[in-house]
Amino acid sequence: MVKKITSSLERPIKASVNYLNFYYGGTTHALKDITMPVGDKQVTALIGPSGCGKTTLLRCFNRMHDLYPGNRYKGEIALEPDGINLLSNKIDPIEVRMRISMVFQRPNPFPKSIYENVAYGLRVRGESKRGVIDEKVEKALRRAALWNEVKDRLNDLAFNLSGGQQQRLCIARALATDPEIVLFDEPTSALDPIATSSIEELISQLKEKVTILIVTHSMQQAARVSDYTAFMYLGELVEFGKTEVIFNNPLNKKTLDYVNGRFG
Ligand SMILES: Nc1ncnc2c1ncn2[C@@H]1O[C@H](COP(=O)(O)OP(=O)(O)O)[C@@H](O)[C@H]1O
Ligand SMILES: [Mg+2]
Repeated sequence: MVKKITSSLERPIKASVNYLNFYYGGTTHALKDITMPVGDKQVTALIGPSGCGKTTLLRCFNRMHDLYPGNRYKGEIALEPDGINLLSNKIDPIEVRMRISMVFQRPNPFPKSIYENVAYGLRVRGESKRGVIDEKVEKALRRAALWNEVKDRLNDLAFNLSGGQQQRLCIARALATDPEIVLFDEPTSALDPIATSSIEELISQLKEKVTILIVTHSMQQAARVSDYTAFMYLGELVEFGKTEVIFNNPLNKKTLDYVNGRFG
């Protein structure tokens, strides 16, 4: 396993994936012995051809697969500093999703106001003081670089925002509960180039405070936003390392072919 890691982390580790296997309903063995670190307050990109398991791996981190019966995890994802195994059946997936939130491929705001979209997770957590919620909604919208555009229309329906604004709203919603890790699954695939670059810039800023994992099919995006890159193929981790090493000087021939656009 260790031979797949081309360069060690220069940062403390936020999570370590250890011999993780994942099965969809007992038949599809979608992840095979994945072992890799996730650097604290770094951006880690998951790349690889369609169907290689990127989304499956990302969704293990917030126990999304628990929502469907028959799915099975083996191995562990240890969350630091406490070292708990996120995949243990002793761990409540709802708790995990408070600590690790997710932004999806297509902006998916709730059919509610801008304000209520961000306040939602706080209310679910039991927060009811208006002043506290106001403050946290503003903070999350500021962190998502959306506050200035929406501060005078917080009661507008979220659907009235542009696609890029809706995605930043979903990022604000994901940030509102102060998660330790935010998962992004191809967050710009439904956006135009301008909205895409604003989300990429935002991701680079967010890592000051939060650990980020991002799935992307765009190698340019991985190269622009990530510190570390994991290249996956057919459910396996082929190579993990610093992004510049993966893109310029990978150990594995398959990684080299993929980053040079020779397949996938
Ligand atoms: N809900 C599901 N049930 C069964 N198999 C699935 C399901 N979702 C994905 N898969 C399979 O798992 C593998 C990995 O898929 P996925 O993680 O979505 O890949 P990627 O995100 O890299 O395109 C693929 O073979 C896919 O067909
Ligand atoms: Mg996917």
